[in-house]
Amino acid sequence: MTKTVDKVQKTTTIPNEERLKQLKQLYPECLTEGQVDFEKLKNTLSNEGVEELGDERYLFTWAGKREAIHLRNIPTEATLKPDHNDSLNFETSQNLFIEGDNLEVLKLLYKPYFGRIKAIYIDPPYNTGGDFIYPDNYRNPLDSYLQLTGQVDSEGNLQTTNPETSGRYHSTWLSMMYPRIFLARQLLTDDGIIFVSIDDHEVYNLRLMMNEIFGEENFIGGFVWRKKAGAGADSKLFFRQHEHILMYAQNKEQIAELFQPLTEKQRDEYKNPDNDPRGPWASTDLTRTGDNDPARIYEVISPTGKKFTYCWTYTESNFQNLIDNNLIWWGKNNNSKPKRKRFLKDKEGLTPRSWVDIALTQDGGYDLEKLDLSVFDYPKPVKLIKLFLQIATKANDLILDFFAGSCTTAQAVMELNQEDNGNRQCIMVQFPEPTPEKSAARKAGFETIAEVGKERIRRVCQRTLIPSGFRVFKLAPSNYNTKNISQTDGSHALFSELEDTLDPLQEGWLVEDVLYEITLKEGYPLDSAIQPVKELTTNTVFCITAPNETQSFYVCLDEQIIETDIERLKLSKKSVFICRDIALDDTLAANLALQCRLKTI
Ligand SMILES: C[S@@+](CC[C@H](N)C(=O)[O-])C[C@H]1O[C@@H](n2cnc3c(N)ncnc32)[C@H](O)[C@@H]1O
Repeated sequence: MTKTVDKVQKTTTIPNEERLKQLKQLYPECLTEGQVDFEKLKNTLSNEGVEELGDERYLFTWAGKREAIHLRNIPTEATLKPDHNDSLNFETSQNLFIEGDNLEVLKLLYKPYFGRIKAIYIDPPYNTGGDFIYPDNYRNPLDSYLQLTGQVDSEGNLQTTNPETSGRYHSTWLSMMYPRIFLARQLLTDDGIIFVSIDDHEVYNLRLMMNEIFGEENFIGGFVWRKKAGAGADSKLFFRQHEHILMYAQNKEQIAELFQPLTEKQRDEYKNPDNDPRGPWASTDLTRTGDNDPARIYEVISPTGKKFTYCWTYTESNFQNLIDNNLIWWGKNNNSKPKRKRFLKDKEGLTPRSWVDIALTQDGGYDLEKLDLSVFDYPKPVKLIKLFLQIATKANDLILDFFAGSCTTAQAVMELNQEDNGNRQCIMVQFPEPTPEKSAARKAGFETIAEVGKERIRRVCQRTLIPSGFRVFKLAPSNYNTKNISQTDGSHALFSELEDTLDPLQEGWLVEDVLYEITLKEGYPLDSAIQPVKELTTNTVFCITAPNETQSFYVCLDEQIIETDIERLKLSKKSVFICRDIALDDTLAANLALQCRLKTI
């Protein structure tokens, strides 16, 4: 049949499409019929002209970089399926725990979360030789994930470490990290910030790679976290007591200021010796050094009559204003050199300091111990991640950690909300990495690290009485028959012709799974509300709404659409109505396409 209606996308948007759009905006002259004219682009970007570029330019590359770039552009054929049993307060919670390989997941989050995440914290494998490095397969990413999740050795470990003896030791790690960090950047808000934990194994490579992805100018700074105390008996030549956390902005120009909270000790410096109703204050010097502006040299007299003549930071009239507003401190006897009162309530915090000494690795272990969950080695301390969240987020922001491990980040988000009455939401992504067979985790019944992460969030909510929860989603093959999409031989045309006559949904599909897949592919977030429309009597139509979307859309997965029933929806030209291809005949399709924006699957 011949219809002129849109098709629901069967794969997620290829990130390149978005970037091409941006390139077109910046350099329209460099795109011809939708294709990049590389010669023109080179000419545009080089002041000296193409010839000058030559080979001897600054270059950061590694074996496999081209494939890594290609990998980020391959559309995913996966989806995310909800799991109510694993979730806590599914209906009301906006936090997400997603189980799966984070590259596929980031691709799926790309459309709904583009530009929406305020802070990302990740603690990826440091490439120490024994850690799990995901073996991306760019020919068939999803199949490879499905195979891998069933692929363990006799000890129950994944056979995917990256030993130092491997000829591509650094390259393998870089190739794994590159597409993930690249996609993650697209999810950040304009003023979003990413924090990446790393140690000496890869810190220099990570810096170069992030400079390339974020632009060197968006490097805000590197924290040095003191993670170990004591004498240090761990290594022959050098006692490594610290790790690094690199902090990059999506766009540094969009960030006016950053603060970290004052420490207890710094707060204690604020006192209230005169019982000022505005609360505790600290005093600062009022004299000016460096120049002797005559307009600022004058005499001031204390309440007891003592005279002080200096070059002051304020003009005489402004100084008088401070006196009138009880903002000057003359000492407890009212006859000392005057100082300016600065109130604690007005102090947002300190500019973030590179030196971080607030908790040690062992504190991360204690955090889990307090939850009776000592089943994960070297989790980060909650306090450490909380610090980054305090620097980068406000009360309603969205936070992502796609190497979630035991989900310390989720605990940090929830505790911080509890402390400042915030409503931050988080998205955790974790591979179902099997726990080693003889480990404490396995003995306690946790088959995978993802299970540990989910249990931690449950315990944080239940034991510490934080009234939150989380929705669990799992990476799975699409509900659509996607085989024809990747067809590259001559049979593609045949598949296209057959497409209309075949049911595009996989056998055994479930309504809720398909609804969430459509939700994602329409660019709506996973905490969207999916409600059946009550007014209808024959068809089942769902209305999908999200707080940040101005418009909702309708989905009907019935085999037949009854026109009289659908009329009750009172669709307008702007309304989006999605149904199955087989549910419409030509006339109904034409009618609906006139009334609204009709899409079919
Ligand atoms: C260093 S741990 C993170 C620990 C975490 N910060 C905490 O405090 O518990 C890194 C985690 O990333 C997970 N991981 C590695 N590759 C992954 C991938 N491709 N997708 C999702 N998770 C992955 C590993 O299973 C591991 O649990």
